[in-house]
Amino acid sequence: MTFEGWHPVALSSSIEPGSSAGTHISGKEYVVWRDNSGVAHVWEDRCPHRGMKLSFGFVRGDHIACLYHGWQYDTGGRCRYIPAHPALEVPATITVPVFSTFEALGMIWTSAEPEATRAPPPAVAGETVPVRSLYVDSDADQLLEAVRANLPSPFTGEGNSTISPAGGSLWRISAGDDRLLVGLQRVADGRAALHIVIEGPASVYAGAGQAHFLGWTTDVRYALEHRPALIPAARAEAV
Ligand code: FES
Repeated sequence: MTFEGWHPVALSSSIEPGSSAGTHISGKEYVVWRDNSGVAHVWEDRCPHRGMKLSFGFVRGDHIACLYHGWQYDTGGRCRYIPAHPALEVPATITVPVFSTFEALGMIWTSAEPEATRAPPPAVAGETVPVRSLYVDSDADQLLEAVRANLPSPFTGEGNSTISPAGGSLWRISAGDDRLLVGLQRVADGRAALHIVIEGPASVYAGAGQAHFLGWTTDVRYALEHRPALIPAARAEAV
């Protein structure tokens, strides 16, 4: 399994059918949206008419409609309907750049390259339970440093915690017998995000397990915001 060349942009659970959200990769703007049949899409976040962000728009079935003048785009990014000219056959040249997108490990991934230029990695099986997306005003390397200095304790038992690269932007944390998968998003200079899931069944981790690892993410944020060598020493004597 490799996620080399792929960028995580959201937890799958955070983009419901019929919804959209804006995001960035290395400072460029993208809209992540899910049509009503459940398929996720990642596009340039810019309407070709007058540049409004499509992430401000509305999903209507398998179309996304721009907030400004209501132009509607199909799942291939082609404009299909202009409300001010309802009888117009819209020229095929009016399109939004769309990017290769797939879902795995409870996250939405994009290559941020035109569709079909990069084959998705092989499908991976296994149940995951979402924890959260953690956005911080810090660059990605500092964020990873804070994670390494503040690894989570196990939820189900005891044992050491470690972090290791799992290919591209994906990292795996072992906390005793528990496993977390962490997608690192390089949002922009000085801004980064972690998309965090538990690798395991909801029957074990839903509820208390999610809350346990959610609490850990607040330690990571605290360390980044307060530094002194990114804290521990028994959490700086329990803060
Ligand atoms: S700017 Fe999007 S429809 Fe006009």
